[in-house]
Amino acid sequence: MGYLMLLVVRVVMCVYMFMMFHFACLSSHLCHPDESSALLHFKTQFIFNPSFSEYFYEYECPHVYPKMSTWENGTDCCSWMGVTCHSVSGHVIGLDLSCGALVGNIHPNSTLFHLTHLQTLSLAFNDFDGSQLPSQFERLVSLIHLNLSSCGFEGDIPSQISHLSKLQLLDLSWNNDLKWKETSWKRMLQNATALREIVLDDTNMSSISLTPNPLSNWSFSFSLVTLSLVSTEIRGYLTSHILCLPNLYELKLSGNENIQVHVPKLNCSTSLSFLDLSSCQFPESKIPDSFSNLTQLTFLDLSENVFNGSIPSWLSNLQHLTYLDLSENAFTGSFPSFLSNLHHLVYLDLSQNTLSGQIPNVFDRLTNLQSLCLSYNNFQRKLPSSLFALTQLSFLGCSNNEIEGPLPDKVAFLNLSTLDLRGNLLNGTIPQWALSLKSLRSLYLSNNRFRGHISEITSYSLEYLDLCNNELQGNFPESIFHLVNLTDLCLSSDNWSGIVHFPLFSKLQNLEYLHLSGCSSLLLKSETSVNHTFSNLMALQLLSSNITGWLEFSGKFPNLDYLKFSIFEP
Ligand SMILES: *[C@@H]1O[C@H](CO)[C@@H](O)[C@H](O)[C@H]1NC(C)=O
Ligand SMILES: *[C@@H]1O[C@H](CO)[C@@H](O)[C@H](O)[C@H]1NC(C)=O
Ligand SMILES: *[C@@H]1O[C@H](CO)[C@@H](O)[C@H](O)[C@H]1NC(C)=O
Ligand SMILES: *[C@@H]1O[C@H](CO)[C@@H](O)[C@H](O)[C@H]1NC(C)=O
Ligand SMILES: *[C@@H]1O[C@H](CO)[C@@H](O)[C@H](O)[C@H]1NC(C)=O
Ligand SMILES: *[C@@H]1O[C@H](CO)[C@@H](O)[C@H](O)[C@H]1NC(C)=O
Ligand SMILES: *[C@@H]1O[C@H](CO)[C@@H](O)[C@H](O)[C@H]1NC(C)=O
Ligand SMILES: *[C@@H]1O[C@H](CO)[C@@H](O)[C@H](O)[C@H]1NC(C)=O
Ligand SMILES: *[C@@H]1O[C@H](CO)[C@@H](O)[C@H](O)[C@H]1NC(C)=O
Ligand SMILES: *[C@@H]1O[C@H](CO)[C@@H](O)[C@H](O)[C@H]1NC(C)=O
Ligand SMILES: *[C@@H]1O[C@H](CO)[C@@H](O)[C@H](O)[C@H]1NC(C)=O
Repeated sequence: MGYLMLLVVRVVMCVYMFMMFHFACLSSHLCHPDESSALLHFKTQFIFNPSFSEYFYEYECPHVYPKMSTWENGTDCCSWMGVTCHSVSGHVIGLDLSCGALVGNIHPNSTLFHLTHLQTLSLAFNDFDGSQLPSQFERLVSLIHLNLSSCGFEGDIPSQISHLSKLQLLDLSWNNDLKWKETSWKRMLQNATALREIVLDDTNMSSISLTPNPLSNWSFSFSLVTLSLVSTEIRGYLTSHILCLPNLYELKLSGNENIQVHVPKLNCSTSLSFLDLSSCQFPESKIPDSFSNLTQLTFLDLSENVFNGSIPSWLSNLQHLTYLDLSENAFTGSFPSFLSNLHHLVYLDLSQNTLSGQIPNVFDRLTNLQSLCLSYNNFQRKLPSSLFALTQLSFLGCSNNEIEGPLPDKVAFLNLSTLDLRGNLLNGTIPQWALSLKSLRSLYLSNNRFRGHISEITSYSLEYLDLCNNELQGNFPESIFHLVNLTDLCLSSDNWSGIVHFPLFSKLQNLEYLHLSGCSSLLLKSETSVNHTFSNLMALQLLSSNITGWLEFSGKFPNLDYLKFSIFEP
């Protein structure tokens, strides 16, 4: 009776508030005592261990909070952190304990399964290490969202998962000892007609095939938007049935080496926007031509496969592409000039192939590029001028090619963060812009033929500076000692003149790696030098034709674990 009264009051209040303020009332519900008690029992099964999650989920969970510490007997569970109640009935309909740093077990008898009104449940990024996934999840028949990503569940996925017929989102990813049985998988596919997002990355699907149940049987085929099966060991063929699912937006199958592509034709209007087929080692050596009909793609990753021959020109049909990664394949031939038709490209990676010839002057049409990687190919001759006119570029990599000639005197880069031109045949002097761009954090120009003096370095954001193995000479650039963000510094060259005072490098307190050779005169320590400590230095290489003074080690290099030190004949 009391409960009924409360319910009536609650309903009246909601209606009243709704009428007054035109929004559903969100708070002020007393939760049901049985649910409150179920939650309190559930709480007792876990300890809060933030150091565990800091170690494993540093990126996913930058802030962990002991949500359950707000769960106290005698207070309204609808006000507890992570708990959501229905605005009218007051039942617990949502539980979000993701990134909760919880360590413990979920027993089959857990009172979690008493919360039968739950519609959304996330326990992602906690440690239920070794728990089986209890079949009792089947009792949560109202579930719409179930997120058990990175929970440490093990064993077979219970077939009862198919009873959750209202599921729209199922995320069981990153439980690498969790296995699918074929019968459970098939039953789920038949029953869960509302599934929109299936994320099963790094679960064990080695006994499942993409092929044998024709996709026409997938009852959710109309609702499916995201299918992510990264590194699952799933077998079989990727066919047009999947690619042509009417609402499929995102398909990720990377890291599956037991699948093949069989798509001779693609005559459908697809909405596929995001396709990741990287690291699949497909036995086929050609990207299927039918992919030219995937015209809605914005993201295409085919890296780390064994595609060979020339890069197919139909890629220029994919007008919406912003991200294209063809790296780590065996493509040959010249730079695919037709890619300049892809005006929306932001990210282009063609590195680690066997492309050759001159890079054509086509970048004036790719003005949105922020990241361009052409490293580890056989490109020759000069870099084209239009490349240096790209104002949005943040990353430019063209290392380990056979690029020649001097770099231009002027560039339009406004936001360049990384420039990697290591291992080429570049000559002339290092242009002033390369040492003064404000946004530059990594500059790699080693193993080229740069000569002459270095101008003043004013790129104060620099963390990585690698100018080693060129033919630099002249006075040692003192401005280096103002680059306080440096962690890696490689400055070996043939002939730095003047005396280089080694203790000055201790001004660079973040320095972890220092490689310095070719100084005509290196002064390690004079009687007058003050107390210098290299707090973070881990690797030190000093080769010089004339070293004077001595290095005092005790307490000065607390982190050093690599040292190479010698005098060479000039
Ligand atoms: C909550 O408090 C009540 C009354 O003090 C007590 O009867 C009940 O056992 C407590 N519940 C839990 C789960 O501790
Ligand atoms: C559930 O089972 C475990 C072991 O099987 C037992 O330790 C625990 O007390 C049980 N919990 C409840 C709430 O019955
Ligand atoms: C599952 O939860 C985690 C942690 O909150 C989140 O990062 C992930 O995106 C969720 N999965 C889905 C499919 O939304
Ligand atoms: C399908 O879901 C319904 C509940 O909606 C359930 O009763 C039935 O057992 C499920 N079928 C299978 C094969 O799991
Ligand atoms: C996946 O399960 C199969 C069959 O149980 C097993 O042979 C295989 O080692 C598992 N894979 C991984 C990565 O654990
Ligand atoms: C899928 O449909 C085909 C006929 O279209 C049928 O032969 C097959 O048994 C069905 N598979 C499942 C798993 O229901
Ligand atoms: C691409 O789609 C068109 C029109 O739907 C169709 O005629 C053509 O055969 C398709 N091409 C391939 C290679 O699938
Ligand atoms: C493509 O599909 C359309 C409509 O489904 C059909 O009319 C047409 O004949 C098909 N074209 C080819 C080449 O299969
Ligand atoms: C591509 O690789 C396949 C299989 O390894 C080989 O048969 C074919 O000759 C190669 N094609 C080219 C153009 O290198
Ligand atoms: C740079 O190299 C190119 C050819 O690789 C050569 O023609 C040019 O003279 C060289 N320039 C300088 C300054 O050494
Ligand atoms: C500059 O580049 C960084 C990445 O290095 C990016 O996050 C930022 O959005 C870029 N800023 C502008 C104005 O393009």
